[in-house]
Amino acid sequence: MTMRPIAIMGAMQEELLGLKHAVQGAHTINMGGRQVTTGNWHGHPVVLVLSRIGKVAAATTATALIERFDVAEIVFTGVAGGLAPGVHVGDMVVATEFLQHDMDASPLFPPMEVPLYDRAHFPTDTTMTQRLKLAATAILKNPAQWIDMEVLHELQVHTPKVHSGLVVSGDRFISTSQESQSLQQRLPQALAVEMEGAAVAQVCHDYGVPFAAVRTISDRADDTATTDFTRFIHEVASRYTSALLGTWMANRASA
Ligand code: ADE
Repeated sequence: MTMRPIAIMGAMQEELLGLKHAVQGAHTINMGGRQVTTGNWHGHPVVLVLSRIGKVAAATTATALIERFDVAEIVFTGVAGGLAPGVHVGDMVVATEFLQHDMDASPLFPPMEVPLYDRAHFPTDTTMTQRLKLAATAILKNPAQWIDMEVLHELQVHTPKVHSGLVVSGDRFISTSQESQSLQQRLPQALAVEMEGAAVAQVCHDYGVPFAAVRTISDRADDTATTDFTRFIHEVASRYTSALLGTWMANRASA
C-alpha cells in the first residue's frame, strides 16, 4: 500500500529552503505558479509547498494539495506577530484553533463568524498538535544548538517558550501598536497573528483533512514589527523550522 504524503506548507521562501535540502529524492514541479517539491523525509512521503502570503494563496494551495496530491495531513509552519502580553520574539506558538479576525458579515452574521459555517473558530487536529508541541519544546530547550547565541541576544531572545492556543489570521500585516492593541482588546485569547492559518484550517475542515500549525514569533505586531520581522526571517526562522519539523517527522517515524 502506498502511503499518502504529509504536506508541509509555508508562506515564505526562506523557511522552506532548509526543508528542501533535507528531503530525499526531491523532485520539484510547478502547480498554479507554485513550486511543489515531493520526496521522502524520515521514511515518509512529503510534499513541500510555498503557499505565498495571505488567505487566498493559502486556501488555494491547501485545496490543490488535497485534490491533486491526496495528502493525508497538512502542517503549516511560519512566523507570526505576538499579540498576548507574554508572547515574545523567538517563542513558538502551536495553534489549537484559528479564527479570521478580518471576517465581518455583520449584521447578517456575528462579527468574525464565517458565513454558513456557523462558527468563527476552526480547531486543529489534537494528535498532530500535541506532537508539534513536543517537538517545539525539544527545540527551544537548547536554541543555541540551532542559532548563533549572538544573533539570539541581538534579537533579545533569552529563554524562548512554547505557547499553545488561539492564533488569528487576516489579510493584514499588523505593524502598529494601535492596531495590535485593538486586536488584543477584541480577541483577548489570541496569542499571535498571521495571514494564512485560518484559511488552511477552513479548507481542511471542509475536506476532513487533519491540520496543525506552528509559528515562531518574529515580531510583536507593533511599531517595530517591520524591522524585527525582516531580521528574524533571515537569521532565525528557517533554521528553527527545519529543526522543528525534522524532530517532528523523526518522532512520528518512531511512534
Ligand atoms: N507574520 C509575522 N508577523 C506578522 C504581523 N505582524 N502581522 C501579520 N502577520 C505576521
